[in-house]
Amino acid sequence: MVKYFTITMKTSIPTPAIIRLCSLYQLVCRMEKEGIPRASSTELARRTGLPAHTIRKDISFLGEIGDTGAGYEISRLRNHLFSNLGLKREKKACLVGLGRLGAAILASPNLAGEGFRIAAAFDSDVNKLETIKTAIMVFPSHEIVDIVRKMTIELGIIAVPADHAQEIADRLVAGGIRGILNIAPTPITVPAGGCFVRNIDIAGELRILSAMIGNKKA
Ligand code: NAI
Repeated sequence: MVKYFTITMKTSIPTPAIIRLCSLYQLVCRMEKEGIPRASSTELARRTGLPAHTIRKDISFLGEIGDTGAGYEISRLRNHLFSNLGLKREKKACLVGLGRLGAAILASPNLAGEGFRIAAAFDSDVNKLETIKTAIMVFPSHEIVDIVRKMTIELGIIAVPADHAQEIADRLVAGGIRGILNIAPTPITVPAGGCFVRNIDIAGELRILSAMIGNKKA
């Protein structure tokens, strides 16, 4: 079933369109950096692999972009996507699990300026909390509900072993979290409405690629 959610006060946009619009935002940011001033929907279609009419329809979900003449003015389109996708309002995020992956996420400079900021991190291992070198506030995981609520954190990243992922999701939801990125290789469930979940199963994705290649050697 295609889920819809309200992205502006007036429009409900299907989740697949949101996903495409976020990829388009990434593309136009790159095009702007490259100094490309304008692009038609056909050019955007060529670069994204999507049909031009899908791109036009997706953009129109976000309201009028104004008179752009022939094609889209790239900087105007970037601004339009940035504002109307709600990326302008920086959201606070938290990370649960300060192991190999969690520590790498916390240390990554590539996550800045993407519409969110990691404001807190949690782990159940007190030694880790005491030894990790980071400017971000760290807390024991039994404080998740309280801290998420007090700091009005809206996004959560789960980077704990699979058997603990659901318990962490439950705590994040109890704290009022609105979006969860789950990196643990197990699906998590959240009550309907109020919280969105994205799962990234790296091993599962590689398994799919391996199966696509099959037994035939290159
Ligand atoms: P790790 O074992 O290095 O770290 C897990 C961390 O979670 C530890 O710091 C541990 O103290 C903490 N933790 C355990 N239970 C907890 C709880 N209830 N509350 C709070 N913290 C808790 O694991 P790693 O490698 O960082 O992986 C994290 C997750 O990402 C795992 O589910 C793993 O399967 C998945 N993953 C890891 C990849 C990798 O390359 N390391 C690749 C793909 C997925």
